[in-house]
Amino acid sequence: MLPEHAPFTSDQRRALDSLLAALDPVQRGWLSGFLAASGSAVAPAPVVAASGKLTVLYGTESGNSEVLADRTVKTAKKRGFQAVMKNMSEIAPADLAKASNLLVIVSTWGDGEPPETAISFYKEFVASEVSLASVKFSVCALGDTSYEKFCQTGKDFDAKLEKLGATRIAARVDCDVDYEESYATWLEVSLSALAPTISAPVIVDVPASVGTTAYGKKNPFPSETLDTVILNGEGSHKETIHLEFSLAASGLSYEPGDALAVVPVNAPDVVKAVLQAAKLTGNEEIEVKNVGRKLLADALREDYDITALSRAVLTKLAEAADSATLRALLAEDAKECLKEFNDGREIIDALLAFAPSGLSAESLTGIFRKLPPRLYSIASSPLAHSDEVHLTVAAVRYQTHGRERKGVCSTYLANLVKSGNPVQVFVQPNKNFRLPADGGTPVIMVGPGTGVAPFRAFVEHRAALGSTGKNWLFFGDQHYTYDFLYQLEWQDFLKDGVLTRLDVAFSRDQPEKVYVQDRMIEQAKDLYQWLQEGAHFYVCGDANRMAHDVHEALISIVENQAAITREAAEAYVEDLKKTKRYQRDVY
Ligand SMILES: Cc1cc2nc3c(=O)[nH]c(=O)nc-3n(C[C@H](O)[C@H](O)[C@H](O)COP(=O)(O)OP(=O)(O)OC[C@H]3O[C@@H](n4cnc5c(N)ncnc54)[C@H](O)[C@@H]3O)c2cc1C
Ligand SMILES: NC(=O)c1ccc[n+]([C@@H]2O[C@H](COP(=O)([O-])OP(=O)(O)OC[C@H]3O[C@@H](n4cnc5c(N)ncnc54)[C@H](OP(=O)(O)O)[C@@H]3O)[C@@H](O)[C@H]2O)c1
Ligand SMILES: Cc1cc2nc3c(=O)[nH]c(=O)nc-3n(C[C@H](O)[C@H](O)[C@H](O)COP(=O)(O)O)c2cc1C
Repeated sequence: MLPEHAPFTSDQRRALDSLLAALDPVQRGWLSGFLAASGSAVAPAPVVAASGKLTVLYGTESGNSEVLADRTVKTAKKRGFQAVMKNMSEIAPADLAKASNLLVIVSTWGDGEPPETAISFYKEFVASEVSLASVKFSVCALGDTSYEKFCQTGKDFDAKLEKLGATRIAARVDCDVDYEESYATWLEVSLSALAPTISAPVIVDVPASVGTTAYGKKNPFPSETLDTVILNGEGSHKETIHLEFSLAASGLSYEPGDALAVVPVNAPDVVKAVLQAAKLTGNEEIEVKNVGRKLLADALREDYDITALSRAVLTKLAEAADSATLRALLAEDAKECLKEFNDGREIIDALLAFAPSGLSAESLTGIFRKLPPRLYSIASSPLAHSDEVHLTVAAVRYQTHGRERKGVCSTYLANLVKSGNPVQVFVQPNKNFRLPADGGTPVIMVGPGTGVAPFRAFVEHRAALGSTGKNWLFFGDQHYTYDFLYQLEWQDFLKDGVLTRLDVAFSRDQPEKVYVQDRMIEQAKDLYQWLQEGAHFYVCGDANRMAHDVHEALISIVENQAAITREAAEAYVEDLKKTKRYQRDVY
């Protein structure tokens, strides 16, 4: 029965009651959730305690899924569930058979892969044959539409759960970087479906901001730029910038290993090119969702992602520009052609190719998603620089298809001047990249290029704490003369005995490439000795090639030094991961 005070006429009520009576409990729960999510069932009914147990399983790399899992548990508890939160790094697939109600929140990383801490669980799960016939589930997949394999890990979990006999109680949602709305609807529908007796709308727990501050993801802190220093010498091929921001009076706090999220703005020349391609002036007034009315030029600068090309953007553009050519490119059998078109191209190229007559201001903004913040590993210790946060940023500049391109956020940061306009920031904690709790434990850090950033934070922190553990850094970049990031600081730390060892690999100072993993192999005996002494092993930087090659080098070092089989060496390294002695922050 519909609640008495549901906003329907008596005729509507009768029709809906007979419809509800014809549905099974799961369908009824889903419908009531849907009505609540769409705002139809506005009047709250008394909450009947759900007796069900609920497992909220999450897999995360940068913390978003964990925050949502936490919110899911809190919201479910308010609905009467006995809800528990489980990290994929902590459980085995067989444990899922005991979960009668299961909500999965998982992101996708790399090129369609699970997040770092969920890799082992994922591998075991896809190979598992455990029966989940008594499990009811739904999946919330986090991802980014600019990646070809959008939400792939969530899709894999969803399909495998079904294959193992579990019952899907609500359809999977695939969330883009701006996931709040899709998540809230998914949660509403899922909890309602799991507790069909409850007709009260879900009140999603409002995200707690970091610490006691009101600043956070939903309300970034306008930070003053205290200093910017170009870290490369003249003649370098790189443009790496050290930035210092003020956190004074923000209430924001961080730990070494955390990242700082920066909310960028688009460059004026890129805004101008998009306006020209769309045949608009920028003076048109438009409505920006959750922001209000604005001039188009301002909205393109501040609110929209006007560069990252994806299937999602092209699908909307095909409609906005009514382009048959683009529709053909989006056809199922044209996937390879679409991939080829997207390679090295941005939204501006698509506008020029498929909207030759231009677009209205509304049609243009309709194809964009919200401009996402970018993460940067924090390069400072709060103990060494109170009220400050430092970053090490490589400016992304390249040329493709006859156009000069630039990364939105890295070049925005590279162009910042001291005490110019404030930069909007918030802290993104990363519990999976932490110094050992015991200051006496040795650490090995592998951080080529900007990957060195968190290790500056680690070493500063250990120095400030007076930790006695040994510290070994492997650093690499192109040239000793121009690209030895923070060289003087490392030398000081060596002199003071804080840094025990420093091994460097300058890849382009000799005819053949030399990389950090080559230095690791040269030092294999000592490196293995440190591991045997209990050292923690950290890697930060490029995920595409470096992290993989360093991982392989680590396995081969263990294999050779321990004189064991490759399989045994892999198990040794896997165990390092499981015991959180091998942690990676790769991007
Ligand atoms: C946890 C984490 C920590 C990070 N820490 C750091 C850090 O400490 N320092 C740092 O500099 N970065 C760091 N990054 C990367 C950073 O978040 C941004 O991704 C980076 O600065 C690029 O962002 P952008 O806005 O400048 O570029 P975008 O506008 O996002 O453009 C980047 C895109 O441009 C394209 N592209 C780039 N180069 C080429 C090329 N040569 N040819 C063709 N296409 C290309 C690719 O599609 C790429 O995805 C980190 C990322 C994560 C997730
Ligand atoms: N996901 C990505 O697409 C991604 C990630 C990180 C960085 N980048 C790009 O790289 C630029 C600078 O990044 P960065 O400063 O962090 O440096 P980087 O490009 O990661 O380079 C740092 C050092 O690592 C070396 N290197 C290259 N391949 C390696 C491998 N397989 N194993 C170990 N070392 C390897 C580089 O050598 P050589 O250059 O001589 O080969 C260089 O000496 C930025 O423009 C950024 O866009 C892209
Ligand atoms: C280096 C990198 C690779 C990513 N790869 C993918 C991908 O292949 N597919 C996708 O849908 N999203 C991808 N994403 C987007 C993440 O899934 C998204 O940022 C998500 O919100 C992260 O959630 P988490 O913090 O719980 O890990 C990637 C993000 C980064 C930084």
